[in-house]
Amino acid sequence: MDNDRLQALLASMTLKEKFGQLTQITGELYVGKVDDEMVETGPSYPGHILEEETLYAIGSVIGASSAKMTNRIQAEYLKRSRLKIPLLFMHDAIHGYRTIFPIPLGLSCSWDDRLVQRVAEETASELRAAGIHVNFSPMTDLARDARWGRVMESFGEDHLLSGDLGRAMIRGYQKIREGQIPTDGVAACLKHFAAYGAGIGGKDYNTVDMSMREFFEYYGKPYEIALQERPKFVMSSFNAFNGVPVTASPWMLKEILRDRYGFEDLVISDWGAVTELQRHRVARDGREAAELALGAGVDIEMVSTHYLEHFEAIMDKRPELLEDVDAAVLKVLRLKTELGLFENPYADEAAEDAVLMNSASLALAEEAGIRSCVLLKNENETLPLRPEHRNVVLVGPFARTRELLGNWACKGRFGDVVMLEEGLKQADGSLSVAAFGKLEDCPEDVLARCDYIVVAVGEYWEQSGEGHSSVKLELDEEQKRLIRAVKDTGRPYACVCFSGRPLALQDIVDDMPALLWCWYPGTRAGAAVAKLLTGQATPSGKLTMSFPRDSAQTPIYYNEYSTGRPANASSYSSRYQDCDIGPLYPFGHGLTYAGATYSDFDISGRRITETEDLKVTFRIHNPSRYDYSEIVILYIEDAVSKAVRPVREMKAYRVVPVSAYGSVNVELSISLEDLEYLDADLRRTVEPGEFRIYVNDLERPVFTIEY
Ligand code: IFM
Repeated sequence: MDNDRLQALLASMTLKEKFGQLTQITGELYVGKVDDEMVETGPSYPGHILEEETLYAIGSVIGASSAKMTNRIQAEYLKRSRLKIPLLFMHDAIHGYRTIFPIPLGLSCSWDDRLVQRVAEETASELRAAGIHVNFSPMTDLARDARWGRVMESFGEDHLLSGDLGRAMIRGYQKIREGQIPTDGVAACLKHFAAYGAGIGGKDYNTVDMSMREFFEYYGKPYEIALQERPKFVMSSFNAFNGVPVTASPWMLKEILRDRYGFEDLVISDWGAVTELQRHRVARDGREAAELALGAGVDIEMVSTHYLEHFEAIMDKRPELLEDVDAAVLKVLRLKTELGLFENPYADEAAEDAVLMNSASLALAEEAGIRSCVLLKNENETLPLRPEHRNVVLVGPFARTRELLGNWACKGRFGDVVMLEEGLKQADGSLSVAAFGKLEDCPEDVLARCDYIVVAVGEYWEQSGEGHSSVKLELDEEQKRLIRAVKDTGRPYACVCFSGRPLALQDIVDDMPALLWCWYPGTRAGAAVAKLLTGQATPSGKLTMSFPRDSAQTPIYYNEYSTGRPANASSYSSRYQDCDIGPLYPFGHGLTYAGATYSDFDISGRRITETEDLKVTFRIHNPSRYDYSEIVILYIEDAVSKAVRPVREMKAYRVVPVSAYGSVNVELSISLEDLEYLDADLRRTVEPGEFRIYVNDLERPVFTIEY
């Protein structure tokens, strides 16, 4: 539909029909509740307007899936709707739709934007085949506090990496070709704007109180970076920010999001967030809530229906808002046009099956699973299994389970998941694998014969995700007992751990000679982990969130600010008296079986100027038989500055493929911009002086440069 026709359509709409386009409801209102094909991702709010005229003027539906179901709803809607503007279907495919990939926190440990983009491309193809047009992903909320259940959906604690991977996901979902989303792409929704990850105490939905420095340098950055990829939607966050709920904050949604970060498309509220302005107690009733949200710049109300209930009163009082309303409706209509919905509002039911879980997406899920795992510890090369390890006992609550998808697994089915036991058997047919939930269930003769034990432990998938914040980040006691009992057998053993968040392992880590952190790998979980255990692949992931020693050590992150009394053995230093200093495993930590060596460090100069970047070069040698990708991370430390700076700042990273026994020369550059920071008046500035450069190692600098 060309612009003139869109304008004509807009002109023909009643005010109610316009607000209908700006309202999103759940699909069962059209066809009744159908389990499995209709998910609810928030609490129910009574009071949906069911009168026909309103229901058939709605613009979009959340949570319905499958070509059949979306077609059914669409047909029902179009039959009765006056203007017959097709519905948009939106869903949460956070790490895959039917093929489930590793949770985003796991994916981020690959540090590989190309991999993340490919995962998003596959997800988009599946979504579109299932009749869904918009994906509520990526989430680039910075995650520094492992108590927060939603760290699993994040890309970790660094703002640059989070922004880059968010960008890659948007690129993958939208697949823009000739300026348009093609028929196998979906619109991306960047969320949750803003600072949702900084809820006080790691509690979901909690208040955020933050300095402007912290916001503009860190929490705001990932969105700022990801917005450069032009997602079609941004979701406003649930939290209050410095006293104002974001859903009602013109400062956040207009001044920052639109004016400063340049976002031009649609803002959608989170689930029920407009009605929840009453619970925040900034709105007396639904009318006030709607007026506040609309005035703040929330274009589409998700699930609650106050826009539709109160538009007349609001427009009477605030007629100037009509311009914004028209602009938002036009954007919705343009998106429907771009997606081709006016020509064909239906998904191809016959084609859906061939797209879902096709062999290429399963292969990608396995590759992504392998790349997401992080080898945290490997004493005496306990891993991988050696040729003499033929009789393997696999034990623990994760040995024989298919529940390895992680939370927010969309339409993933446990039945499709490769469990660890199966993965090991498939990976190496010569292995004898006996799997048990508990060590007591393992017959004595089996234990006597076994020459290697793999202990599969972790945090169950329902323990992380939305609304699943925790104060205890330790493994449960039964699992710790299991690890110690395995140790007592005297057999060689290694631990694999599944989890949606970093856990606090200080009281058990000494009993783990080797520890492979698997996060939640998704549909191909067992196959991916088995390839690593058997040495058919080497772990290559590096942590993107620091691991605390103890639950109470959270939040913990590598780029904390310098203090006047840096942590040391003295009690007059910034530390806890009853906990060792620093994380158990820091950001950037991750071992390989390969053990690359770094050499020949060089730098193109010692002084950085306005016109010339500095080039840091070095050589990586892979002395092993594994082809793999080495993750290289460059940090800077500003020696002296007028305002306090973080102890280290990551400024560049690269995923470098190195073939077996091969060497690669690597070049990373540092520009003047990398040395900038916000001064005391929050102006971008760079001050003359020394900067130390670190590569991978957070403790020992490789160069000192000057500006
Ligand atoms: O997209 C989600 C959001 O992340 C949390 N609340 C519900 C939304 C829609 O499902």
